[in-house]
Amino acid sequence: MAFENITVETRGNVGLIALNRPKAMNALCAALITELGQALDAFEADDSIGAVVLTGSDKAFAAGADIKEMASKGYMDVYLANFITDGWERVTKCRKPIVAAVAGFALGGGCEMAMMCDFIIAGDNARFGQPEITIGTIPGAGGTQRLTRAVGKSKAMEMCLTGRLMDAAEAERAGLVSRIVPVAELVDEAVKTAGKIASLSRPIVMLCKESVNAAFETMLAQGVTFERRLFHSTFSTLDQKEGMAAFVEKRPAAFKNC
Ligand code: HXC
Repeated sequence: MAFENITVETRGNVGLIALNRPKAMNALCAALITELGQALDAFEADDSIGAVVLTGSDKAFAAGADIKEMASKGYMDVYLANFITDGWERVTKCRKPIVAAVAGFALGGGCEMAMMCDFIIAGDNARFGQPEITIGTIPGAGGTQRLTRAVGKSKAMEMCLTGRLMDAAEAERAGLVSRIVPVAELVDEAVKTAGKIASLSRPIVMLCKESVNAAFETMLAQGVTFERRLFHSTFSTLDQKEGMAAFVEKRPAAFKNC
């Protein structure tokens, strides 16, 4: 598939998608969002792919939704089109894990897109923010919700109300990112991490992702019950038998994804 706004490649069992609008700091225009959805559809359908890495460039993961595309829209335009479109949320619907590898700016919709991924590995030059308030609007792709859940009310409120950016160290302290790596090693490290996930049992990985995500949608007791049911269900798989037998026999597990 030929894309204009992203590049797509496979590295072993990992799908690698790079946002690629260098002249616009990878601003997330409608065409890019459509292409991103198509690339995710293809990786989701490809049995050889076990996890995906979403990245940008060293300068910018993405500096937000495309302001030039949005600037002249009226209420009826955004309401009738239900902007943001479903395409934006395609990332959250992906059943295979998606690792965001964020270097440079992840602002507005770019920060929101990174937070839609399963976890974020940050380059040491990463900067995160929700600066929409400075251009007369507010986050519209989950920023006020996901940032608040990730870093707590005080920090999220300050960032959303002032547009202040967080650097990588602050983002790590606050729990927004899982860890920081030197920017030159970011993509390789994210691919290595995604590769580790892809080497494990596909169905068990999917169940685990579903269970962690349930923590955001349920009360604790419900979430714990949901987790227990999924845990029980892993005992119906051959991969659970293989994984535990391999441990007992002191050999590597050979998962069959069933
Ligand atoms: C369109 C953008 C853009 C954006 C940068 N560019 N961000 N174009 N939409 N979000 C373009 C600039 O216009 C410029 O192109 C080129 O990218 C380089 O940007 P500069 O500003 O010259 O670079 P620099 O001085 O290094 O500053 C980088 C920056 C700044 C700090 C990231 O560009 C910036 O503040 N961008 C906007 C950040 C923002 O407000 N994001 C939130 C958007 S609203 P030209 O051709 O003009 O030179 C949003 C809402 C989401 O995301 C809601 C859900 C959809």
